[in-house]
Amino acid sequence: MGLTVSLDMGSEKMVMAVAGESGGAPKLAAIKMIASAGMEEGVVTDKAKVRSYLDFLLKEGAKGEPVEVAHVALSGKSLRVTERKVTVPVQRKIVKESDLARADKRCRETAEAGENPVLDCFPAAYSLDGGSPTRRPLDRSAKELTVTYRVYTASGNSRQELEKMLLDLGVGQVRFFPAVRAFMEGVGVRNRKERFALVDLGASHTGVLLFADSLLEKEAILPLGTETVDTDICAAFKIEELRQARKLKQDEGSALRSACRNEKVEIPGLRKQIEKRDLAKVIQCRMEELLEGAIFQLQQAGFTDPEAEILLTGGGSRLADTLLLAEKLSGQRCRYAKARGVQAADDVLSAPSCLIALGLLLCKPYEPFEEQTGWFGRLFR
Ligand SMILES: Nc1ncnc2c1ncn2[C@@H]1O[C@H](COP(=O)(O)OP(=O)(O)OP(=O)(O)O)[C@@H](O)[C@H]1O
Ligand SMILES: [Mg+2]
Repeated sequence: MGLTVSLDMGSEKMVMAVAGESGGAPKLAAIKMIASAGMEEGVVTDKAKVRSYLDFLLKEGAKGEPVEVAHVALSGKSLRVTERKVTVPVQRKIVKESDLARADKRCRETAEAGENPVLDCFPAAYSLDGGSPTRRPLDRSAKELTVTYRVYTASGNSRQELEKMLLDLGVGQVRFFPAVRAFMEGVGVRNRKERFALVDLGASHTGVLLFADSLLEKEAILPLGTETVDTDICAAFKIEELRQARKLKQDEGSALRSACRNEKVEIPGLRKQIEKRDLAKVIQCRMEELLEGAIFQLQQAGFTDPEAEILLTGGGSRLADTLLLAEKLSGQRCRYAKARGVQAADDVLSAPSCLIALGLLLCKPYEPFEEQTGWFGRLFR
């Protein structure tokens, strides 16, 4: 069997994970990350550049072995999200998995009748006989089950363009998933009943996901990310090049001024020193704005329990003291998200920049529910 590769194409970096299978779970063979260009807000803007990066990643990651399938995350403007309600009769008057599967199938079929290809459908809430929404419909009695779905479809040409590039580069098959599915698989949402949040601090956006009872309860994408910290540093310390500010942030920055010692640090490439606490003050202002935006979204959904957990991910969360600042602002427990279900070294599973690529390895194509017929099938439905 050939390799599976996965691809997360962010606005600042591209990550490719390469895996074979061992004992039913993907076993990571390599993970490669490069600075990206040619993509903006999830859309391919420079085909030649993107193709050359994909070529490089495939050569470096797969080392000439055949790649059977590539799992690619779509996000930003290459995705469209809509809500759809589906009602199905409950066949044995007690809601069973088969009723949920039948509703999934109906949702897919009706969504696929639209013009854009369907990538995924997630149930967000259920209601029984037109009653109030519930997240736990199983084993309850009802005549009718209504499911509210979030339906993700591909938008624009990026999906076809990426598919063509990967097939041309020798990949056997390409499957697309919304980035949120990769997060869900990565942190193992289907096996987690508790209510918890995931905040993705990306370069150009901040993603806020709230889960409860193994469902995606809320998703908000805020159009501001940690690259804004770099522009702030440039303006505050009269630095001309963004890459110098980024390096200063990554090497010496902190999200919490009070956690810094009073010492001087040098601006990379310039013979100029600044106070570390002054740097942290500039960074903290922007990080507070980003994190407060995310926390506000969670609080709007009533997610305020001090025992509930906020998981941080995305490259921006690697900034020193970000967890401390997030805890201070939210009053909740914050820690880094760690990927589950992939066989890999602990430091890779915990790496904030790798979660989407690892989660993608676990994504599976949709398999339509097959109605069981005959007395045996009806008995065990
Ligand atoms: N060690 C580090 N310390 C501080 N910040 C870091 C570190 N490493 C990366 N970053 C920051 O993380 C951000 C990039 O995060 P990430 O790689 O998740 O973005 P992306 O997925 O390319 O972007 P997006 O998801 O918004 O399209 C940049 O602002 C970068 O400067
Ligand atoms: Mg990202």
